[in-house]
Amino acid sequence: MSFSNKLADNFARVLEKSPYSVQDQLVKVQYVQQGNNVVFGRTVRPGEYSNLAYIGKILESTAGKSYLGADAWLDVTFPHVIYITGTRGSGKSFDLGVILEGISELEAPSAIQNGVNPITSILIDTQSQFWTLRFAPNPDIPANAQQLSDLARWNLKASGLANTRFYVPPGTTKFLGDEIELTIRPQDVTHAEWCALLGQEVYGPQGHILAKTLEALQGQAFSVSDMSSYIANDLNWGAVADSSRNAILYKLEDYDRTGLFSSSGISARDLLVPGVCNVLMLRDLRNQDKSLVTAIIARQLFTIMGERHTKKKIADFFGKDDGGSDLPTRVWLLIDEAHVVAPKDELSPARSALVEYVKRGRDSGLSLVLATQQPSAVDDRILSQVNLTLSHRLTFQSDITAAANRIPTKPITCMKMSGTTLTDFGDMIRVLDAGQCFVGDHSTSRAVMLQIRPRISAHGGYSPI
Ligand SMILES: Nc1ncnc2c1ncn2[C@@H]1O[C@H](COP(=O)(O)OP(=O)(O)OP(=O)(O)O)[C@@H](O)[C@H]1O
Ligand SMILES: [Mg+2]
Repeated sequence: MSFSNKLADNFARVLEKSPYSVQDQLVKVQYVQQGNNVVFGRTVRPGEYSNLAYIGKILESTAGKSYLGADAWLDVTFPHVIYITGTRGSGKSFDLGVILEGISELEAPSAIQNGVNPITSILIDTQSQFWTLRFAPNPDIPANAQQLSDLARWNLKASGLANTRFYVPPGTTKFLGDEIELTIRPQDVTHAEWCALLGQEVYGPQGHILAKTLEALQGQAFSVSDMSSYIANDLNWGAVADSSRNAILYKLEDYDRTGLFSSSGISARDLLVPGVCNVLMLRDLRNQDKSLVTAIIARQLFTIMGERHTKKKIADFFGKDDGGSDLPTRVWLLIDEAHVVAPKDELSPARSALVEYVKRGRDSGLSLVLATQQPSAVDDRILSQVNLTLSHRLTFQSDITAAANRIPTKPITCMKMSGTTLTDFGDMIRVLDAGQCFVGDHSTSRAVMLQIRPRISAHGGYSPI
């Protein structure tokens, strides 16, 4: 473990020199001298070093006291809202994997977890690239071979995740053999979500038809064709225009064909098994449908987990047993390509569910991790709750401004890089290589440069050669 004093146990000293020399002193940082560690996401107390996941090494040398090469850890107790930004290929999906490795059960116990009990997670895998999490890197694939040599250099052992479940929508080819079919129950979709899905205003004519239909079918397990039959029945509609009803009918028929809806669909309750990493592989779905799946999961999560924690708090207060629960105490929801799932300027089913999720998450043990290459395109109400950021390379000023605005601490004002002095934080973000980022949190006086560690499980997002 890197928190031990035994040098032999430490991660390797892979960063002894840095091209980046930051002139702003680090006035406040959560540094643990024992083992040369820096903690992000919480204020450290002496001796309390459990629930930490290893994420990389400090990459900058710093004026005054320098922490270059120190091991960087992420707190995994506090319900976090983490925002990962960066251009294509900068390392965002890689980070999601690093975080998942840090919180999940591993095939082989690893020093990347310091006193972590496996935490239940749900990953919205918009590109269906995270199935590799289950496996250690494969030496026969060049990108994985590179990973293995990086791991050796960092003195880390390869390992897959031990407790994973993969879900695919109907029609997607299964290749792992144990993929679970992901379908949604129409009764789990709220009126507002149906409207967003079909691109309709809640109070518009089609919104009205949907409201009446859902009201009529309430309380039963219904299918999309039950909805269509109700809408098609003239007796139910009096003065409502046929054109509005027909417009919905066409859209519902289209949905019926995708097979995404089924009255026996999955519910978030099925995913809430302690310690399981659930990966929803959604590449084959339309963006609206990716958003809908996310909405349903997020909403059910805060409802179920909210109730669980309220019950527990009351029982604790009165010194009673809460009757036990087979639910986990904490859940992490991770969303890759968040701009697709919760865009700022479009109607999307996930938007209000995620706003509510981040508001209630703190009391319900719910963390959220969002990754995006378009920081200016994600809903602001969700981002207002961000408490930790990983900012990778960006190039466009509008994206840099949006990403920098969300960093929950001060930016850097002056950095030297190979003889050049940079005084614009945007320029500092532009020069980063893949896997390098600025980490920002409330417990550190300014953003700190980080080299993210190699992945111990296979990374599936490499570019084809
Ligand atoms: N911490 C790291 N260490 C070593 N290599 C890295 C690291 N992070 C990223 N890379 C390299 O960069 C490549 C791209 O990373 P990743 O797939 O995470 O990009 P991304 O930001 O998710 O891009 P996109 O927006 O296209 O999905 C990886 O395949 C890997 O080769
Ligand atoms: Mg990616």
